Formats: sequence, C-alpha cells, structure tokens
Amino acid sequence: MAKKPETVSTPYLPVPATIERVESISAAEKLFYLSCGGVTPYLPGQFFMVGLPGYGEAPISVCAPFKKGAAIELCIRRAGNLTGALHRLVAGERLWLRGAYGHGFDTALMKGRGLLFITGGIGIAPMRSLLLEILEKRDEYRELRLLYGAKRPDELIFTDDFARWKRDGLNVNVTVDEPQAGYRGAVGLVTDLIGRLKVEPKSTTAVVIGPPVMYRFVVARLKRMGLSEEEIYLSLERRMKCGVGKCGHCQINSSYVCQDGPVYSLDSLAGMGEAFK
Ligand SMILES: Cc1cc2nc3c(=O)[nH]c(=O)nc-3n(C[C@H](O)[C@H](O)[C@H](O)COP(=O)(O)OP(=O)(O)OC[C@H]3O[C@@H](n4cnc5c(N)ncnc54)[C@H](O)[C@@H]3O)c2cc1C
Ligand code: FES
Repeated sequence: MAKKPETVSTPYLPVPATIERVESISAAEKLFYLSCGGVTPYLPGQFFMVGLPGYGEAPISVCAPFKKGAAIELCIRRAGNLTGALHRLVAGERLWLRGAYGHGFDTALMKGRGLLFITGGIGIAPMRSLLLEILEKRDEYRELRLLYGAKRPDELIFTDDFARWKRDGLNVNVTVDEPQAGYRGAVGLVTDLIGRLKVEPKSTTAVVIGPPVMYRFVVARLKRMGLSEEEIYLSLERRMKCGVGKCGHCQINSSYVCQDGPVYSLDSLAGMGEAFK
C-alpha cells in the first residue's frame, strides 16, 4: 500500500466539480472529465466520495492518474439511485467531491518487477489509472500483462485505449463469458487466461481488481503459480457511507476499507475471509 499523498486541508468538506465533458463508453458506463479547484494530488487506487444534493454520495475510484491542471477522470456505472442521477448530468453541470480517500497503489514497490494486472467488470476503471501511471515509466518494469474479463463483448470498456497500451509495452489479453456476433477474441473466465501464462513467480507482482467472486479463484490460481502473498495486491469494494473511518459500514474485522484500503496486499488480509465475500 502506498502512503497517502498530502491532500486537502479540509478532507471532510465536499468541493464542487464541474463536468467539462462526459462520454458514454458502454450501455451502463460513462466517463466524466471534471474540473475542480479544491483537489490535490491522488494516487491510482484512491477514490472520491462523489455526491449530488438530494441523492447522496458514493465511492468512485480515479480512473486516470493525477496530472496538475488536467481533468479528474471518473468512470461511473449506472447502478442505482445516485449513479442514475449522475448519468443524467451533462457538461457544464456540477457534482460534489470529497477526498481523495484511502490507500492507493505504491508503484515504487513494483519497480524492477514483472506485473500481472487481472481485472473484471468495472474493475478496469481503477486499474486503468494504475496502468497509465506504470506505462509513463515503462522502462522501470519487466513484462507487463493485462488480463481483462467481461460478461459480454459490449460490456468491455476502454477498448479504444488498448492499441495505445499495446504500443506502450503492455500485453493485453481479453476474455468474455458470452460471445456476441462479430467477436473473435477469447471466451471463458479470466482464470482461464491465467492458466495459459508462463510467469517467473519470484519476480512477478499481481494486481487484482474485480467483483469479490473473482478474487477467491484468481488468488488460488496465483498462489498455485508460486506468487507470494506479499506480491498479490487486491482492491476491495465495500459499502461505504462516510469514507473517513467514522460509520463502520466498510468494516472487515478491525480494518476500515475506506481508510486502510481499498488496496491491500494479500498477506495483510490474513484472517479476514470476509474480504472475499
Ligand atoms: C472503493 C470503491 C470504489 C468504487 N469505484 C467505482 C468506480 O470507479 N465506478 C463505479 O461505477 N462504481 C464504483 N464503485 C461502486 C459504487 O460506489 C456503487 O455502484 C455505488 O455506490 C452505487 O450507488 P447508487 O446510489 O447509484 O446505487 P444504490 O441505489 O445504492 O444501489 C444500487 C445497487 O448497487 C448495489 N451497491 C451499492 N453500493 C455497492 C457497493 N459498494 N458494492 C457493491 N454493490 C453495491 C446495491 O446493493 C444495489 O443492488 C466503487 C465502490 C467502492 C467501495
Ligand atoms: S465508510 Fe464509514 S467507516 Fe468506512
């Protein structure tokens, strides 16, 4: 886990953010580009509490690294009341941000290693922010591989980025559970892709972000391949209300995911079986 960067002086206070641009990137996901004066540097893996008066707040991960003066990029899936209302907003309208919160990824610990990025569903959003940061300094890492699974081809997102990522030195492998007309890629679970890999376990670090059901199978496979628990990082999704360690909604045993996570190394989750439910 990375140390938190110096952030806003008033972390509990929502700050207004203006939607500069919003793109539909699938039937259920939109990519928001936000300008916001009150936000300071954040790390891949951290999240904002995104709010709209009258609808509430929800944790949403950053999906691109912090760049001074650049828009904040958030990919939001329409899941319910708040995210439905966010999807109805257009450029020029405002929403509210608190954060960024949580511990993100510490890329310094990954230097010199081969990296295996394994993701499913909306997990590609936070993963994208890590990928973009790593690809900025491609030479500092060994082999980089992305394994990305979705239910159906039309649920794959950020596919426009794939060509650039490949050019920048990322090996991109995609799979879907159910093929659709015109799809020529792999079919099967993301764990099937892991089975086809040849990795050097001693020099490989894995990062896993996806639905909880994916974690148990992926982790079992990675451990069978010989990766150590210290070199497997997971980002956990939990119900959150406050985002700042006050309400207990995100608690697993003695850990508050909003504060201690959402990024954990597998060894730090010992005895926290609930993390995978
Ligand atoms: C650390 C973190 C980062 C996240 N990053 C993203 C992101 O980048 N993009 C994104 O689209 N979503 C992300 N989510 C999930 C997002 O917060 C939920 O989809 C959102 O809270 C739903 O709010 P709502 O009011 O629209 O839905 P609600 O009306 O509250 O619920 C709609 C449905 O979603 C389910 N749901 C609500 N919250 C969660 C949750 N935390 N986990 C699983 N199911 C839930 C409910 O049970 C219900 O079935 C993240 C969650 C966490 C904890
Ligand atoms: S969301 Fe309130 S304690 Fe974590």
